[in-house]
Amino acid sequence: QMDIFISGLMKKMTLDEKLSQLNLLTPNSNTGPFATKKYAEKLKDGSGGNVYSLVGSPSEVKAKLELAESTRLKIPLLSGLDIIHGYKTIFPIPLGLSCSWNMPLIEQTARVAAIEASAVGYNWTFSPMVDISRDPRWGRVMEGSGEDPFLGGKIAQAMVKGYQGDDLKNETSLMACIKHFGMYGAAEAGRDYNTTDMSKLTMYQFYLPPYKAAVEAGAGSIMTSFNEVEGIPATANKWLITDVLKKQWGFKGFAVTDFASIQELTTHGISKDDKQSAELAMNAGTDMDMGSELFFGYLKQSIQEGKVSMAAIDAACRRVLEAKYKLGLFTNPYRNFDPEKADRVTLTKENKEIAKKAALRSMVLLENKNNILPLKKDSNIALIGPFANNKAEMFSMWVLKGDVDSVVTIYEGIKKVNPNVETVMGTQITDNEYLQSFAGYPYEAEEQEKLIKEAVELAKKSDVVVTVLGEAKGMSGEAKNLTNISIPNCQLELLKALKNTGKPIVLLLANGRPMTIENALPYTDAIVETWHLGTEAGSAVAEVLFGDYNPSGKLTMTFPRSVGQIPIYYNHKNTGRPYDGGRKRNFKSNYMDSPNTPLYPFGYGLSYTTFTYDKVILSDTILTGSNKILKAKVNITNTGKYPGEETVQLYLNDPVASVTRPVKELKNFKKIFLQPGETKEVSFDITTEDLKFYNSNLILDWESGSFTVFIGTNSDVTNNAAFVWNK
Ligand code: IFM
Repeated sequence: QMDIFISGLMKKMTLDEKLSQLNLLTPNSNTGPFATKKYAEKLKDGSGGNVYSLVGSPSEVKAKLELAESTRLKIPLLSGLDIIHGYKTIFPIPLGLSCSWNMPLIEQTARVAAIEASAVGYNWTFSPMVDISRDPRWGRVMEGSGEDPFLGGKIAQAMVKGYQGDDLKNETSLMACIKHFGMYGAAEAGRDYNTTDMSKLTMYQFYLPPYKAAVEAGAGSIMTSFNEVEGIPATANKWLITDVLKKQWGFKGFAVTDFASIQELTTHGISKDDKQSAELAMNAGTDMDMGSELFFGYLKQSIQEGKVSMAAIDAACRRVLEAKYKLGLFTNPYRNFDPEKADRVTLTKENKEIAKKAALRSMVLLENKNNILPLKKDSNIALIGPFANNKAEMFSMWVLKGDVDSVVTIYEGIKKVNPNVETVMGTQITDNEYLQSFAGYPYEAEEQEKLIKEAVELAKKSDVVVTVLGEAKGMSGEAKNLTNISIPNCQLELLKALKNTGKPIVLLLANGRPMTIENALPYTDAIVETWHLGTEAGSAVAEVLFGDYNPSGKLTMTFPRSVGQIPIYYNHKNTGRPYDGGRKRNFKSNYMDSPNTPLYPFGYGLSYTTFTYDKVILSDTILTGSNKILKAKVNITNTGKYPGEETVQLYLNDPVASVTRPVKELKNFKKIFLQPGETKEVSFDITTEDLKFYNSNLILDWESGSFTVFIGTNSDVTNNAAFVWNK
C-alpha cells in the first residue's frame, strides 16, 4: 500500500518538488550559497521539504508546519530536533544513563522524551548517538554509551524502541536518527571532526556493531558523520552508505547528513566546489542535506549534465517519503501536536519519577573508604562546590528545551531529607584562561581565596564535607574537547584545603567524560560519579548519600590514570609482549612511568554492600557443532549489610584464532537484586553466536578451539572456566 501511494505521489512530483524533499531547512543558519531566501518563504514555496529545530510558541511552530499546506502537493514536513536526553523532563546524560545497564529503563526515558516532544510538533529526533569511543578527551563521549560494542548495541536498540514505540505511526512516536555514521568516536587525538583511520577489521569488530544493531531495531533514519573514513568523508563515502548500510545491512530508512557536511567536502579536499560536493554526496547514497541546501541548489543542473541520475534522486526521495508515510504524516500531518495536551504530558509526576529512577541508577560509586557512605540522616553537612546548588548545571549542552526551573539541585535534594545542610561555592570552576570563556565562568584569584576560606569555615563546623566538583556542562559535548581531563587546579586547591580540616570528604563528581582523578584520591574518602543527572538530580543524590538507594551503576567507559594512557579500553589485544605485572618491565608492552592498568576499568562500580562470586561452573567442557547451548553458572552472595543490585557480567576470550582477538569481550550481563546474606544462582546461555568474530575476509564466523569464560563484577574479572568447542 505504501509503495502504491508513494509511486502515485512521485508521478505527480516535479524535479524541484523531489529535491525539496531532500532538503532539511534550518531557521537561520543555512550555510550554502542559497541560504539567502527567507525561511518561511521557502516553506511556503515548497523548497524546504523538512524543518530543523523549529522554535517559538506552539502556535508559531504550528503556523510554520502549516505552511506545507500552501504548497502544490501539500506534502507534510519532517520536523527534527536534537532531543538527546529528554525534552522537558531531563534524564541523565547518555553516558551516565548507559551506566545503569538497564535496558527497560533506558527505553522508558526515550519513550517519555517522545511523548513530550511529539505533543509540541516534533516527529524526528537526532538520537541515539551510538558512536563507540575510547578517548575521553573527545567532548562527545557524554552523548554516547561508552566503549563497548555489545552494550552499545543493546542501548542503541532500547533507545530506538523507546523513541519509535511499537509502530512509528503511533502519534506519540518520534523517528530515531542513528548517529554519526560512522566511526565518528575515533577522531584522532580526541579532537572533534578530526580524521579517523582504522582497519576494516577494527571497524567491523568494534565500531560498526552499534550502528548495525540500531538499524536492526528499525531506526527510521541515520546521520552521516563529519569525519572521513579511509580517506573519504562519510557524507561522500559510497562504501559506507550504499555498500555497508543499504546493501549489506538492508537499511530501509534514509541517510541525512550532519550539519552542512556536504558543504564541508570541499574543505576536506575531495571536491572542488559546492556543486561537485552535492554530486559526490548524492552519488554516495546520502538522501537528505542538512543545512547546506546544495542538493536543492545544484542537483537539477547535475542531472541535466548527466553527473547524477534521476534514479538516484528518485530513490532518495522515495526513502524520505516512506519515512513520512510510516510516521502517518500523510493522514495526520500534526500527529500528537496539541499545546494543551503538552502541558498535561510534560514534566508529569510519572515522568519525573522515571527521571529520578534513571538518575539513581546512573550514579557510580567509585570509592568508599571505611564505608563512610551512606551518611547518617542527621549529620551536619557542609555542601561545597560550584555545582551544588546550580539548576542549569544539572543539564548538558544538549538540553535545548528542558525546563531549568523544575530541576532539583543537590542542595535542595539534601535539604529535603536533612535540614542540617549549608552550602557555599568554595571555588571557581576553572582557572584555565581558555576554558573559562567556554564554560562561561570568569576566574579571579582574589575571589578564589575568599571562596576557599568561606568553604573551610563551613567545613570546620560540619560532621562531613560533601563537595560537588568536576566539569561545567559547557566543558563537554560537541567540539568540547580537552587535553587535560583532570579536576581543574582551582577545584583541587579547594579539595586540599578541605582535607586539612580533618573532616571526612565525599566527592560528588559532576562531568561529561571519564576524568583523570588519581590526584584527587588522597583528598577524598568517598567518590560518587554523578555525571549531569538532569531534572531529578538532587532528589536522587540525596537518596544515594543517605542510603535510601544503594548505588548500582557500572562504568561503560574506562577511567584512565592519565591522558598519556589514552586510548585505553578493556577489550584490547594481548600483543606479543604483554606486560604481566611482574618486576621486569623491560621490552614488554608497558609504560616506564605508569601502570598499564586504568584507574577504574570498564564495568566497574562499587555498592554499599559486597557481592561474593563462587567459581564459574560450566554444563560442558567439550562441545561439538553449532546447535548446542553451553550453560555457565555462578552463585553470587550478598556478603554485606545492605540490600543491593549487582550487574553480573560475562566476558569471553578466544586465545587462538585466525586473527588476534581481544583479551576479553563482554557477551552478556544480568541484573540481580540480593538481600544481605542471600545467594542467587545466575546462569547464562552461551551459543556459537557468542564465539563469532570477523575474520580477515570480513566474514562473521566462529572457529573451533578452546575458549575462556569469565563471570564477575567488572571487566577486570579473573573468575573463569575453560571449554573447547569444535565445529
Ligand atoms: O544532531 C546534531 C549532530 O549531532 C551534530 N551537528 C548538528 C546536528 C543537528 O543539530
